[in-house]
Amino acid sequence: MTESLLIKNPLLVNEGRQQHADVLIRGQRIEQIGAGLSAPATAQVIDAEGLLLLPGMIDDQVHFREPGLTQKGDLASESAAAVAGGITSFMEMPNTSPTTTTRQALADKYTLAEGRCAANYAFYFGGSNDNIEELRQLDPKAACGIKVFMGASTGNMLVDDEQILERIFAEARIPVTTHCEHTPTILENLERATRRYGSVIPPAAHPEIRDVQACLRSSELAVRLAKKHGTQLHVLHLTTAEEMALFEPGDMLNKQITAEVCIHHLHFTADDYAQLGNQIKCNPAIKAARHRLALLDAVVDGRIDIIATDHAPHLPAEKDTGNYVTDAAGLPLAQHALPCAYEHVHAGRFSIARLVQMTAHNPALRFQVQERGFIREGYFADLVLLQTDQPWSVANSQCLSRCGWTPFAGQRFNGAVHTTLVNGQIVYQNNRLLLHTAGMRLAFDR
Ligand code: DOR
Repeated sequence: MTESLLIKNPLLVNEGRQQHADVLIRGQRIEQIGAGLSAPATAQVIDAEGLLLLPGMIDDQVHFREPGLTQKGDLASESAAAVAGGITSFMEMPNTSPTTTTRQALADKYTLAEGRCAANYAFYFGGSNDNIEELRQLDPKAACGIKVFMGASTGNMLVDDEQILERIFAEARIPVTTHCEHTPTILENLERATRRYGSVIPPAAHPEIRDVQACLRSSELAVRLAKKHGTQLHVLHLTTAEEMALFEPGDMLNKQITAEVCIHHLHFTADDYAQLGNQIKCNPAIKAARHRLALLDAVVDGRIDIIATDHAPHLPAEKDTGNYVTDAAGLPLAQHALPCAYEHVHAGRFSIARLVQMTAHNPALRFQVQERGFIREGYFADLVLLQTDQPWSVANSQCLSRCGWTPFAGQRFNGAVHTTLVNGQIVYQNNRLLLHTAGMRLAFDR
């Protein structure tokens, strides 16, 4: 490990402020922040003139497929993609095989991750229709949160027993995160689509099948249950204008109920099915353009608190089985997380400070992540240098995700990840992955 490292002259974006300052890192942590710092003779120096320095993204929603689905990706391959996208910590979902629905399965995942992740890691515990006893005995520091599929998606983890939902919401001692889509509504819509299109349902029908009502009905239920039981609720990957009315604008601090949007729902619209087809099939579906605009408004006024990726790699053949029902839902997104989100800053839709708040500060606060998510003396040095003056084009050939493709192929982005540091170590620089193993298990202040 490098003993000390000095980052000279970046424009530091942190806690609502921008300032030119140097950052001195010793070992895993930030030792000093200030102008004109000098480094020990042996220190490595990065000349960061003209670059932005941000706290690394804490992605609270990824699917890295291990154990059991490693043909799509594993903790090593997908965490490599993550650091290339400016993600320095990730929280991984329980729809693996086996599912992470017992304390033993959760412990096994941490064992699998040890020494194999480029970024820091934590895992969700999955709520199910029959594991309330396990959930009761869960150590609050052992999982980042509880994941509840209130709508069926990849992995067969639907919790549709209302009494069980009540109990999960009543008894959870850590944040409950929900996938909200009402499955009976989706099944009715699917029947209607099958009558209309026959056996060849086009990709563009996805948002008619996984429609606004399905999302709204389920999100309303989650919010109602959280209010009734005082649950710390975080609603994942919201996609509709209508759902935005369920959330409060303003600063996230002190909110009991928080909301998330993912980079693809801010980027694509239903118009993109014509060109990208099933590549952009995901749950909840990418919807009509008016929803994207409403999500952007909610990002600006604070009804949305967090931006995540929902990185969900599938192999090209799994995305394209020739049958709408079996075509896999989910996109590989981690490698382009910050560049994709930065496009909105470039276009003037929200500020770089707001971006940092939603990708780093707020996830750290929401999940009580210890000593990360901010550029502060004494905190872990999880940092990203972002270059914003050299537009570049995305290519499938550069994908680090095992699935080998990206929905952004051919896309031009204005922000590029120049360097990513995890725990004080340079893990990614100038388009090269330098270190696979710098990630540590996340700790939680709870
Ligand atoms: O599109 C999705 N893909 N949505 C989910 O909820 C799950 C994810 C996956 O695991 O593939």
